[in-house]
Amino acid sequence: MTEGLKPEDIEPQAKLVEKEFWEWQQRFHSVFDSRDKFVETIDTQWEGAGLLQKTEAALAELARERNRLLGKKSTLATLRKKIGLADPIYRAIVGQRVQHLESAIEEPIHKAELLLNQFKTEVSAAREAIDVTIPGRRPRQGHLHPITLMRQRIEDIFVSLGYAVEDDREIETDFYNFDALNIPEGHPARDPQDTFYTTEGFALRSQTSTVQIHAMQRRGAPVRMIAPGRVFRRDTPDPTHNPMFYQVEGLCVDRGITMAHLKGMLAEFVHRLFGPETKTRFRPSYFPFTEPSAEVDYSCFNCGGDGCRICKWSGWIELGGSGMVHPNVLRRVNVDPEEFTGFAFGLGIDRTCARIYQLDDIRLLFENDVRFLEQFR
Ligand code: DAH
Repeated sequence: MTEGLKPEDIEPQAKLVEKEFWEWQQRFHSVFDSRDKFVETIDTQWEGAGLLQKTEAALAELARERNRLLGKKSTLATLRKKIGLADPIYRAIVGQRVQHLESAIEEPIHKAELLLNQFKTEVSAAREAIDVTIPGRRPRQGHLHPITLMRQRIEDIFVSLGYAVEDDREIETDFYNFDALNIPEGHPARDPQDTFYTTEGFALRSQTSTVQIHAMQRRGAPVRMIAPGRVFRRDTPDPTHNPMFYQVEGLCVDRGITMAHLKGMLAEFVHRLFGPETKTRFRPSYFPFTEPSAEVDYSCFNCGGDGCRICKWSGWIELGGSGMVHPNVLRRVNVDPEEFTGFAFGLGIDRTCARIYQLDDIRLLFENDVRFLEQFR
């Protein structure tokens, strides 16, 4: 009668270990069978995480499986202890049986670990790699707004004719916007220029004519200046109106200035802006701050005066208002109207811009839609 365990005594537990391993293989064999299979599986598991986190999670799970199958508390560990209890005659056989089981399990787990670690290295290397062959991102080159382009063209012409460019405030008092321009309180000329009032006594300027006053207060006479800028009116927006728009004011005050100078100046201006064949036309008009006053038209740059869609079949396009500075305006800024005379004019920048680019709706200029603005470089 032998004392120790016989090989068949450990068989039930050995079979249990085999079963556990078989189950593990059922779950994992296909996963770790090949790199492609693994990548495919890992990609659908641990959803939402990045590939690197997924790989790390898989490695952690594999470590848990290794511990479950081969660790201290595993069925295999209990089986290992049985070797010492085996009958000396059978010890080698029992030992071999356990050893085979152990390496049968150890080998695929080790292979899987290798695969996973290798994959992890690949993934992190790919993440850190810089592909120097990817074409660079070209910075988008911006350009100036069509109104700015127009303003610059106008400024260039006047500067070359000896005019200074004044840039003045957009918030004004009644004095600069109206009184000093010979528009006293209650004057009907205030009505169409109803604007936006800010704090008591201040309002957004409704015309750039305000700068005539500032400029003469600062510089006295003689003076030659233009003042491009924004003006504001309480207009309902429509294709030809916007509550905010651009004007350029002009003022020339000196000894002996006459209406002939005004006409010559504006004729020269339209020649330079639209071409030497452009004609001008002056129509009598009324502005409180000029006497006499005139509306200025220029012959259509498109049809040359024959009539087309752009000039609405009239052959002429409106440029703006003009006139000889009213003596009251000069007196207000302490310029002696006996010694000095002058002319002034006010043109619409965005209106001219809309004509040149044939825009049906002036509001397009203020919507800041790049797809639209991009067309005018
Ligand atoms: N300020 C006028 C307006 O906004 C335009 C204007 C007309 C300006 C005649 C002038 C001028 O300097 O002389 O309607």
